[in-house]
Amino acid sequence: MKATAKAHTNIALIKYWGKRNEELILPTNNSLSITLDGFHTITNVSFKEELTNDVFYLNDSFVQGEQADRVTKFLNLVRDLAGRYVFAEVKSVNAVPTAAGFASSASGFAALAAASTKAVGLNLSDEQLSRLTRQGSGSACRSIYGGFAEWQKGEKEDGSDSFAVPVVAKDHWDIRVAAVVLSSKMKKVSSRAGMKRTVETSPFFKGWVESIPADLQSIKEGILERDFTKVGEIAEANCLKMHATTLGASPPFTYWLDTTVTVMQTVKQLRDSGIPAYFTIDAGPNVKVLYLPEYEVQIKQALQSIQGVADVKLSRVGQGITYLGDEDFA
Ligand code: DP6
Repeated sequence: MKATAKAHTNIALIKYWGKRNEELILPTNNSLSITLDGFHTITNVSFKEELTNDVFYLNDSFVQGEQADRVTKFLNLVRDLAGRYVFAEVKSVNAVPTAAGFASSASGFAALAAASTKAVGLNLSDEQLSRLTRQGSGSACRSIYGGFAEWQKGEKEDGSDSFAVPVVAKDHWDIRVAAVVLSSKMKKVSSRAGMKRTVETSPFFKGWVESIPADLQSIKEGILERDFTKVGEIAEANCLKMHATTLGASPPFTYWLDTTVTVMQTVKQLRDSGIPAYFTIDAGPNVKVLYLPEYEVQIKQALQSIQGVADVKLSRVGQGITYLGDEDFA
C-alpha cells in the first residue's frame, strides 16, 4: 500500500487559461507544453489502516489548510476509483520554487496521482492517469508525459475525453528553457483565481479562446519540423494574448513586475543581435526563455546580468512519470 513517484513540471507554449467546468477541471481550450527536466516533485504515498485522516508533509514540514485539503480532495477521487477507503500519509519533496509561477502544482499533482494510484493497487494507463491528474490541477495532466504534450480539452461534460497525449517522441528535439527567477514569493492571484476572474469578467477572453486553434495547428507543425522561429514566435504571441486577458478583467490584474518586462526586452534584444530566443510567462512574474543548445552560454550570461534577476535555471526536455523504489525517497 505504498509507492513513490517522480514527476517534472512543464511549461505551456499554448496556455491553458479558462475553465468550462471548475469542479471537474475542464478547460475552454487545448494547451500544449514541454516537460522540463530541471524542476521536479518526488512523492511517497502510504495508505495506512491506523490513520484517521490524511497527513501531508511538503519538504519535511507538516501542511494544513487549503494545500492539504486539495491533497485530500484528490485522494478521495483515488479512493473512489479503487473502492478502498483508507487514509494516507503523503510526503512530497519539491525541487520547484512553490507558487512562483513555476507550476509546482503540475509536478506535485502528477507525482501524487502516480504514487497514490500505484500504492492503492490501480494500474492505470497514461491516458487514465492523465485524466485523473487533471482533476488535481489542470496543467498537471500534461506532466504525465516527457517532451511535448497536448491537453485535449474534450467535448464531453463528464470529462472522459479531457486528458493529455504526447505530441512527438521525447527525444524528438533538444530545445532548452532558461527559467529566469525574479521572485520566489507567493503570488497574489493564484492561477485558479486569475483564470476564473478572467473567464467571468474579461471582454478579451472570447478573442483568446477563438485564437487557439490556429496557434495550436501552427505550433504543432513547427515542432514536427523543428522550426525554432515558428515555435518561438507562436509561443511568445500566445503568452502575450493570455496575459492581455488579465488586463481586461474586473478588477484588472497582471502577473508582471517591472523586471518581467525588462527580461522580455532583453530577449527581444538578443534576437535583434542574432541570438534566437523567445519568452513565455505563466501566472507569475518569472520568465521562461526558449533557446537552442548552441546559444546556451550567451543566453545565460545575458539573463543573469539583468538587475533584479535572482537566478537563471537551465532545463532540457524532461521525462514523464517515473516510479522509484522506497529506498530512493530521501
Ligand atoms: C498559466 O493548472 O495551476 O500556468 O487547473 O486551477 O489547478 P488549476 O490551474 P493550473 O493553471 C495553469 C495556468 C498556466 C498555463 C498553463 O500551464 O497552461
